[in-house]
Amino acid sequence: MSTPVNIDWSKLGFAYMKTPYRYISRWKDGQWSQGELTEDNQLHISESSSALHYGQQCFEGLKAYRTKDGSVQLFRPDQNAKRMHQSCARVLMPQVPEEMFIDACKQVATANIDYVPPYGTGATLYLRPFVIGVGDNIGVKPAPEYIFSVFCLPVGPYFKGGLSPVNFTVSDYDRAAPYGTGAAKVGGNYAGSMMPHEEAVEKGFADCIYLDPLTHTKIEEVGAANFFGITKDNEFVTPKSPSILPSITKYSLLYLAENYLDMKVSERDVYIDKLDEFAEAGACGTAAVITPIGGIDYKDKLHVFYSETEVGPMTKKLYDTLCGIQFGDVDAPEGWIVKVD
Ligand code: PLP
Ligand code: COI
Repeated sequence: MSTPVNIDWSKLGFAYMKTPYRYISRWKDGQWSQGELTEDNQLHISESSSALHYGQQCFEGLKAYRTKDGSVQLFRPDQNAKRMHQSCARVLMPQVPEEMFIDACKQVATANIDYVPPYGTGATLYLRPFVIGVGDNIGVKPAPEYIFSVFCLPVGPYFKGGLSPVNFTVSDYDRAAPYGTGAAKVGGNYAGSMMPHEEAVEKGFADCIYLDPLTHTKIEEVGAANFFGITKDNEFVTPKSPSILPSITKYSLLYLAENYLDMKVSERDVYIDKLDEFAEAGACGTAAVITPIGGIDYKDKLHVFYSETEVGPMTKKLYDTLCGIQFGDVDAPEGWIVKVD
């Protein structure tokens, strides 16, 4: 049974909202408890939890989409489960089995089904799975207990403007160390990004671009999203580096560009002083979807790609193909869509 909720879906941005149910499971003595749904959005944990002091935690982000026929579906949740495995392994936390991860996401979407925005609004239900190290502990070592939880909230665009281009500035700070935790979705990477983000916003930019930490010559990430560029001869290019987060959206776009749009594709170095090779550029991620990059500010000069006000034609095609699949209007590659109800 569905009860209408009073939300202006078109006005949603990316802000926390308490929805009725979340999933929680606890790991103790070598195993996860039977997960359950709860209405309580507060966690009661030890003051000495290693998640609080030493950042022993990780998280994921994926979305549930309402299709034209009113059903609800997830986009590639197996990929988020696999990436969470990698993140847990990197900070010595127990892994959440893939079936348990996907089941938790389905349960949360189903329990909060009234909060999945209607088809056509562009809004979606954002799911936030996370694992935290808890329990009594003070040494810098893995926690004795863990919590795996998934909560959700309806969201609109992450960057203001949706498919309107926004500008970014290049940060002097690093997001990750060359052999650090950049490829894992762990909270510490994000704590360190708050100051560079704020400085970029104060200068009038949507966010900042991070260069590779070793040489500061190559693009790594666009805030909490990956970078892609489209060369003048229509090649889809995205940076390759062991310290960027392997974006599920980025790997989906690589596949779609090659197999749906007949483009050449490559994952390779993208030099910050060779932006001229690109006719269009964008940021991509679950929250960012595809956000066209109007221009990049580097050494006090703004390099404009296609336009500061209009999305370029190939970026728009990629956006329509990706969103078409996510909202069920375009046939998806095998295994990409998981129905919730
Ligand atoms: N890069 C960073 C640092 C992120 O936080 C995210 C978001 O998850 C992404 C890239 C995009 O990854 P995905 O497409 O899997 O959401
Ligand atoms: C996502 O796209 O899911 C992200 O993780 C971005 C988030 C850090 C706001």
